[in-house]
Amino acid sequence: MAPPHTVSPSDDRFADWIARLEEKHFAELTFPEVSRALRALSSTYVERRDKLAEGAALSGAGKRAAFALFYGPLHHLLLTHIVESVPGATQNITTLLDLGCGTGASGAAWASACQPRPRVIGIDRHPWTLGEAASAYRAFGLSATVRQGDVATAPLPKGPVAILAAFTMNELAEPARDALLTRLVERAGQGDRVLIVEPLAGFVARWWNRWRDTFEQAGGRADEWRLRTELPPIVAKLDRAAGLNHREITGRSLWL
Ligand SMILES: C[S@@+](CC[C@H](N)C(=O)[O-])C[C@H]1O[C@@H](n2cnc3c(N)ncnc32)[C@H](O)[C@@H]1O
Repeated sequence: MAPPHTVSPSDDRFADWIARLEEKHFAELTFPEVSRALRALSSTYVERRDKLAEGAALSGAGKRAAFALFYGPLHHLLLTHIVESVPGATQNITTLLDLGCGTGASGAAWASACQPRPRVIGIDRHPWTLGEAASAYRAFGLSATVRQGDVATAPLPKGPVAILAAFTMNELAEPARDALLTRLVERAGQGDRVLIVEPLAGFVARWWNRWRDTFEQAGGRADEWRLRTELPPIVAKLDRAAGLNHREITGRSLWL
């Protein structure tokens, strides 16, 4: 069997970021409380997707802790792998716009992989995420601003800018998603770079194939990712305790 691929997210900062998340969230909650919340959170993402628009994923301290401690590091590892694999994704970026930034995990991964590091603007509709994202960008030594807003209607900064929507598009209602994706394809035509990342599971993003065709026709690329890598200990422990299985971190991306 091939050895697991090793992702090297930006040095010790990744470990320090997770250590700080553990310290913060386990100050208020026990491990069994967080692992129970992780089960509830993963069922929200799979079986109760209609509740996402109401903010069900981030309702309550347990789900927030599970989101920050579990999905954050997984998204960070996946994004690091994607941007290091897609040619040209880490060069000449001065501003990175993190749409639906959540805890900042994915945006911090992309920005940290860039040389030189861009400034980051994180936007999210959920007020709790903004403090988390600001601390994550800080933990990775990035210069960043965060603001509350609806990504469907938020004005995009003047280009050139690299625009990330990681695990965000599937939470938008279809008309808003189509309108935003249309704007992003137009912006790519003006010199911006666009990266969309979503789960592999087809039911999460039924719109995927249509937009994959649009991105490819515009000169972009679509990829599927299956990453085997060592998980941070707290992520592996939560994975086991919640009965999930992330021996592989998977996802798919559109790049233009
Ligand atoms: C699954 S999380 C992903 C967070 C982060 N991008 C990551 O990769 O870890 C989706 C995020 O999108 C945000 N979101 C969903 N719809 C939004 C909207 N219309 N405007 C702004 N943020 C939105 C949610 O609040 C949540 O933080």
